[in-house]
Amino acid sequence: MKIEGKHYHTIWLKDNNPEVIEVIDQRLLPHQMEVYEVNSVDEAAKAISDMVVRGAPLIGVTAAYGLYLACLKNPSNDHLIKAANTLKASRPTAVNLAWAVDLMMKELMDFSENERVQKALTMADKIKADDIEVCRNIGVHGLNIIRNLYQKHQRTINILTHCNAGWLATIDWGTATSPIYQAIAEGIPIHVWVDETRPRNQGANLTAYELLQQEVPHTLVVDNTGGHLMQHGMVDMVIVGTDRTTAQGDVANKIGTYLKALAAKDNNIPFYVALPSSTIDWDLNDGLKEIPIEQRSGEEVTSIWGWTGEKMQKVQLSPTGTPAANYGFDVTPARLVTGLITERGICSASSEGLLTLFPEKAPSN
Ligand code: MRU
Repeated sequence: MKIEGKHYHTIWLKDNNPEVIEVIDQRLLPHQMEVYEVNSVDEAAKAISDMVVRGAPLIGVTAAYGLYLACLKNPSNDHLIKAANTLKASRPTAVNLAWAVDLMMKELMDFSENERVQKALTMADKIKADDIEVCRNIGVHGLNIIRNLYQKHQRTINILTHCNAGWLATIDWGTATSPIYQAIAEGIPIHVWVDETRPRNQGANLTAYELLQQEVPHTLVVDNTGGHLMQHGMVDMVIVGTDRTTAQGDVANKIGTYLKALAAKDNNIPFYVALPSSTIDWDLNDGLKEIPIEQRSGEEVTSIWGWTGEKMQKVQLSPTGTPAANYGFDVTPARLVTGLITERGICSASSEGLLTLFPEKAPSN
């Protein structure tokens, strides 16, 4: 996707120094476009926990390159196992992180120590390339839903999204945004309602920014607006991403997603979740009971970051001493999800639906 007309991915090897990884520092967007260097596995884990990079698929790819950096330093089993654990502990909810680390580790253990650096780089590059293709395909399938809505209404289609499940959360295309970008390319008129997504404002900072850069008509709203818009016929569909989807179709996504799903249900508005299959945790069923929900510092709630015109600055919102709770994600039960848009097609949010698309995951296999 483009920033100021120039094509970017969200992560890449440094030019002239393939022992360094570079990412876009997402803490500074949309005000500053700065590249951030990652030189070691510990720096990769810190970039994930500090949310220099964020979004489930991008976290997974960053962890894969983190293991490559670990191999460069010391490809021994002990060091890699320690590195894998450090990476996995950096954020708890998005399962893509453990998925990418486990995939890398499984393969790397089959190779001798002196083959591991090259193997790790090849694998990380492949996980990255696959993510691009997977997200493109999510868009191909999701486009059918938007096209049908357009054929029915013959007017601009209004889509509401929460947080940032855009290309900044992946490598390219995004998950929730991929159908939108592909619909725009096909000439379907789209307007996106962007939830600001407190406390870190990924909607206001990142989704608004990328939609503006890709010239997609959009309007920013505060998080509590969605229900009102839906009651007044101003939303045709909701599309969000997910950090972890269980085998029965429960979906963990950014805090507040559940309330949008409830409002959508009450107003008969389709609520779709777009996801790469790397976000499915086949070992879990009951999302409410089983998905670990990240809790971050209360400071993200009691204060807010903004742009002074010269630099990023944090200002305090609440009285000094007021305690704050900061749950990063919530779980939307499968019964509130109209459908899951995956790289293999669209299915119901249920174990039957998921197994139709991913029969190789059936327990008997
Ligand atoms: O805390 P974040 O910014 O990492 O949360 C991101 C989300 O909730 C996204 O919706 C999710 O990771 C899906 S990204 C395709």
